[in-house]
Amino acid sequence: MSQPARPSHGSAYETSYGTAYATHEPETPHLDFDGTTPYEDYVRADVLTHLQHTLSDDPGEMVFLVTTQVMELWFTVVVHEWETAARALRSDDVPTAIAALKRSARELEALNASWRPLGQLTPAQFNSYRSALGEGSGFQSAMYRRMEFLLGEKSASMLVPHRGAPRVHAELEKALHEPSLYDEVLRLLARRGHAVPDAVLDRDVSLRREPHAGVEAVWAEVYSGDPAAETARLGEALTDVAELVWRWRNDHLVATRRAMGAKPGTGGSAGVAWLEKRARKNVFPELWTARSHV
Ligand code: HEM
Repeated sequence: MSQPARPSHGSAYETSYGTAYATHEPETPHLDFDGTTPYEDYVRADVLTHLQHTLSDDPGEMVFLVTTQVMELWFTVVVHEWETAARALRSDDVPTAIAALKRSARELEALNASWRPLGQLTPAQFNSYRSALGEGSGFQSAMYRRMEFLLGEKSASMLVPHRGAPRVHAELEKALHEPSLYDEVLRLLARRGHAVPDAVLDRDVSLRREPHAGVEAVWAEVYSGDPAAETARLGEALTDVAELVWRWRNDHLVATRRAMGAKPGTGGSAGVAWLEKRARKNVFPELWTARSHV
């Protein structure tokens, strides 16, 4: 018969075999605080875990709401990383930009993994609370819109739904008029001696960026050169981001197909047909098309 396992902590004790082990009493965590705990002061968990106001009695709605809230938090982190990267590029600090983009890639993986609880919803399950959502739709997510703006997918009309929320509207308006992350990348490539066309560098940054053959040629040049060069590594970090955003869009599309087929969306769009069009677009398009010329 084997010896009973020693407890990892606790005082000396008697086993059923009469063997006593002397153990060290480890320091236990502090229990007494004057006000709220330092954890609460930092994490605001009390606020965060009381924001789940479901709109129906269906027990399946809770995970729909929390998944949406979790995704909003990831959007917030990703926007922070991309804004950090854009700022770093503006001051020619490519290592800081690459580090932020790499962090964002791991965060996008976590974001995409959070589709799991909703990925297999059946129409009957979704119908159990869908009508309670009224006209509410992720299309109205301001933080998602900031992500799209940073990728170059600008559109002034996307500010309209947020007229009633001054802080959100102001943040979106600022983001609309700032160069996108991709604009900053192309400006950096120009400063590094690449022939980025003037039309690209001087464009109105509040408009949607369209693919440009001159930018494709620049990426083909970068990818034909030293793969260890900063610009090549920047290109790969951006490609990782582009792929993961494309995956989010496609996972969303498939979850929507499963949950509601071809019905119109709660936000008023054609639903799946509209999402299919959005999901077909490549993020940083020239980074993909340039590969045919390397
Ligand atoms: C399975 C559950 C879901 C279904 C059936 C669904 C359905 C739809 C549909 C039909 C649209 C098109 C706009 C509309 O008419 O509403 C849309 C847009 C959108 N949804 Fe969802 N959605 C789901 C879950 C989520 C979740 C959890 C999020 C996380 C925040 C989300 C975020 C978005 C965003 C950001 C858009 C706008 C996309 C764009 O502008 O390209 N959706 N959704």
